[in-house]
Amino acid sequence: MYADLLIHSAQLMATLRGYSDGPACGEGMSEIGLIEDGAVAIREGKIVAVGTTEEVRAGGWAGPDTRQISALGKVVTPGFVDPHTHVLYAGSRENELSLKLKGVPYLEILKQGGGILSTVRSTKLATDEEIKAQTSRRLRTMLSMGTTTVEAKSGYGLMVEEELRALRLIHELDGEQAVDLVSTFMGAHAVPPGYSEEEFTNYIVDVMLPQVAVEDLAEFCDVFCEPGVFSLESSERILVKAKELNFKLKMHADELASAGGAELAAKLGVISADHLLQASDEGIAALARQGVIAVLLPATSFNLAKNSYARAREMIRAGVPVALATDSNPGSSPTESMPLVITLACLYLRLTPEEALAGCTINAAHAIGRANQVGSLEVGKQGDVLILDIPNLNYLPYHFGSNPVETVIKRGKVVWG
Ligand code: NIG
Ligand code: FE
Repeated sequence: MYADLLIHSAQLMATLRGYSDGPACGEGMSEIGLIEDGAVAIREGKIVAVGTTEEVRAGGWAGPDTRQISALGKVVTPGFVDPHTHVLYAGSRENELSLKLKGVPYLEILKQGGGILSTVRSTKLATDEEIKAQTSRRLRTMLSMGTTTVEAKSGYGLMVEEELRALRLIHELDGEQAVDLVSTFMGAHAVPPGYSEEEFTNYIVDVMLPQVAVEDLAEFCDVFCEPGVFSLESSERILVKAKELNFKLKMHADELASAGGAELAAKLGVISADHLLQASDEGIAALARQGVIAVLLPATSFNLAKNSYARAREMIRAGVPVALATDSNPGSSPTESMPLVITLACLYLRLTPEEALAGCTINAAHAIGRANQVGSLEVGKQGDVLILDIPNLNYLPYHFGSNPVETVIKRGKVVWG
């Protein structure tokens, strides 16, 4: 039996092996399974051999029809997993830039009917085809920058028909382009005009969640838990109901204010708590105790321009597994770039390149319940592999603002480069 594809002679290959049962945490985040002169063989979309070039060649995987790609002088990694995005929407919000530069706070823009509510309006006005075309373009950019699996949230619909439409479009897009999508219902993204927070929370709990569950349109449920958006009480009601309906849970927690979001995330046993800029010491300790993954979004901090970043080092020291994501959205993080996130994570979250790589591969895969399929180069996993045109791992955060990705392989096929 021969492989369809053999990538060989990599200067350095980061396998991220050994974390299938649980995410990397503490010192483990630095142990990323490096192999010099590495090779990986893929057959029928799955990895069949990983090791040094010599070992993989000795396994007899290279046959007459095997496509061989040399990664000489380059770095090979698993495809990036982006575990927190709001990538499905229509329109853009560059008009808010001048407000932001004048110092108008993010939540103030929302209160004035802009922000998320402005994207809700532009998405409602767009046809399915327009939303899909705009989103596909962003997914294509993500793919070109090495992202092969993406979590995508609804939340620019807010009303039940629009939220169901968003989730259906995510499912359609999943089948129509190369990036794999994992869907999250986030009706609790903003309170629409005409509703009190309590009324809208009732609507999510009584109307939206049951319908999303019946149509089996989302794996996860997420809430924007933040004073002035959804309180701890509302967030808890929504997530408790979601759990009853068999959704896995996520939470936007302690982004703008320290309000017990991390503590609630730990109490509810969510898979991931995201943002966490203002998480308290007790909150961080609680996340560690419960094994909740902290999904950190340094591009959002960067773009909100407040010079404030999550306390990643304290989290790692406390034993919280850290993952990284773009938060790709039209307001607080209009980017598709995981390489940029890696640079910001190293410079401002003070992660090492090894920790940053663990954060956007295996730990990100755990954060979306896909660690059995993606996030590492191990036999049996999906053949999602990147060839980076960089000489060593430090170069990845070091040289920023351009694309380090030379070739993207998805399920054993070259899909970009
Ligand atoms: O994660 N925090 C809420 N949601 C997004 C922003 C969405 C938007 O501004 O459109 C976030 O930052
Ligand atoms: Fe978000």
